[in-house]
Amino acid sequence: MSKKRAAITGVGGYVPDYILTNAELERMVDTTDAWIQSRTGIKERRILKGEGLATSDMGVAAVQCLLNSKNLQPTDIDLLICATVTPDMTFPATANIIADKLGCAQIPSFDIAAACSGFLYALSTATAFVETGNYRRVVVVGADKMSSIVDYEDRATCIIFGDGAGAVLLEPTNDNHIGIADTILRSDGSGRVYLHQKAGGSLKPPTYATVAAREHYVFQDGQPVFKFAVKNMADIAEEIMQRNHLTGNDIAWLVPHQANKRIIDATARRMGLSDEKVMLNIQKFGNTTAATIPLCLWEWEQHLHKHDNIILTAFGGGFTWAAVYLKWAYESNHLKTAG
Ligand code: UT7
Repeated sequence: MSKKRAAITGVGGYVPDYILTNAELERMVDTTDAWIQSRTGIKERRILKGEGLATSDMGVAAVQCLLNSKNLQPTDIDLLICATVTPDMTFPATANIIADKLGCAQIPSFDIAAACSGFLYALSTATAFVETGNYRRVVVVGADKMSSIVDYEDRATCIIFGDGAGAVLLEPTNDNHIGIADTILRSDGSGRVYLHQKAGGSLKPPTYATVAAREHYVFQDGQPVFKFAVKNMADIAEEIMQRNHLTGNDIAWLVPHQANKRIIDATARRMGLSDEKVMLNIQKFGNTTAATIPLCLWEWEQHLHKHDNIILTAFGGGFTWAAVYLKWAYESNHLKTAG
């Protein structure tokens, strides 16, 4: 009997209405639209505004969008995994809160923290759960309210990040020509010196001094992160292609983490892919951390065809990096627009 495979059978997404443009950032910090666009490819990003709104609310909206498209109820979900670095609270897990707000609080749910690679770590984890045969409908959410940890006085980071959430449904299949075919996950914790949040954890609990020193925000030493990202994202994409005997011609789509258009371009070049095969929404949403890849899948869903070879790849804080090779499982002919 062949092993069960996990296949993505639906996608959903949510971005907040508020658009933070480069022009508005020009009025907040010493930057220019031209610098931001040429160095990152970003024109605007979405920001979640409103008292009491958190990462879980965007996650709920993304899952509801997914469930609506599948005509499913929250109680049809067997397991929910949320990738985030901006949990509503240190504990409980944001996945628990999403499940409660959806009305399916009894299902197993947990978070995965792997920063910008979080969605791919969660997707790989969910795949393993589905392959056991014990879980039939697993929802993977990538959601981040980056505006809650971004210092809007730091021009090196505030121009990059945005808020959003995406979700996919994974279901078992016996068809070996569709579904998640291969995954590679990597990490190197020594990279934490270049990209981290200094205070708020057990190493440096919050104090008046940590708040005054602005240590509860994202710290990023951009240039070394950029170099590691270019090398590792391209290396891991090439590795997953080689071990699955794929050339650029075999691949229908690259779905890269959206951190910097220059990193994405370098990865696509190494894979031998032309621009038309690369999903790109960084210009509209910026870097939404765990949400970038499912938001791309949501936006491009109507362009995807059954059996398309798709490579997902990411690099981020940790350092963590990852690649997933999948064959798309369904035809989508319903139209939809993001935002
Ligand atoms: O998603 C998780 C992983 N993160 C990433 O993959 C991000 C990787 N890093 C990057 O994308 C880029 O390093 C940044 C976009 C963050 C920065 O771009 P860069 O080309 O590496 O710029 P840089 O840090 O080398 O800075 C170049 C110059 C500096 O000025 P001087 O020292 O040459 O006078 C910066 O102070 O650009 C200056 N600069 C800015 N100028 C205008 C930095 N930020 C800005 C800004 N506007 N927003």
